[in-house]
Amino acid sequence: MIMILLALHALSAVVWVGGMFFAYVVLRPSIAGIEPAPERARLWSRVFARFFPWVWVAVFTLPTTGYALIFGLHGGMAGVGPHVHLMQGLGWAMFLLFGHLYFASWRRFRAVVDTGDLQAAGPALAGIRRIVAINLILGLIVVTIAATGRYWPQ
Ligand code: HEM
Repeated sequence: MIMILLALHALSAVVWVGGMFFAYVVLRPSIAGIEPAPERARLWSRVFARFFPWVWVAVFTLPTTGYALIFGLHGGMAGVGPHVHLMQGLGWAMFLLFGHLYFASWRRFRAVVDTGDLQAAGPALAGIRRIVAINLILGLIVVTIAATGRYWPQ
C-alpha cells in the first residue's frame, strides 16, 4: 500500500512539474513568433484545456497520498523530518496559486478567447504565465527537497 501511495505521489509531481516545464521552457519560446498572433492564443487555450484537468488530478492526489503516507507510514506529523514540513508548506502554496490561476486567470483568458477578441488575450495570458513560472520554480524546489530530505544531516 505504501508503495502505491508513494508511486501515485511521485507520478503526480512528475506530471504537474514536468508539464509546467514543457509549457514554460519549451512550448512558450517555440510558438513565440507564430503569426497571426490570435492563433497563439487559440493554441494556448487548447493546450491548457488539456493540461489543467491533469493538474487537478495532481492537486487532489498529492495531499491525499502525502497525508496518508505521513499518518500511515510515519505515525503522524511529529514523526516526519523537516523536509516533509517544507514540502507540505510549499505544496499548499502551489495548490492555492493554481486555484487562483484556474478560477481567475484561466476563466478570464477563456472568456476572451470565446468572445473572439483575441487581441485582448495577451494580458489574460500574462497572468497565467506568471503563476506557471512561480509554480514551476516552487515545484522544482519541492522535488529537490523531497528527494534529498531523508539524507539531510540531523
Ligand atoms: C500537502 C502536500 C504534501 C504532503 C503532505 C507531502 C508528503 C510527502 C511525504 C510524507 C513523502 C515521503 C517522504 C519520505 O518518506 O522521506 C513525500 C515524498 C515526495 N513528495 Fe510530497 N507531499 C506534499 C506535496 C508535494 C508536492 C507539491 C510535490 C511536488 C510537486 C511533492 C513531491 C514529492 C516527491 C517527488 C516525493 C518522493 C521523494 C522520494 O521518495 O524520493 N510532494 N511527500
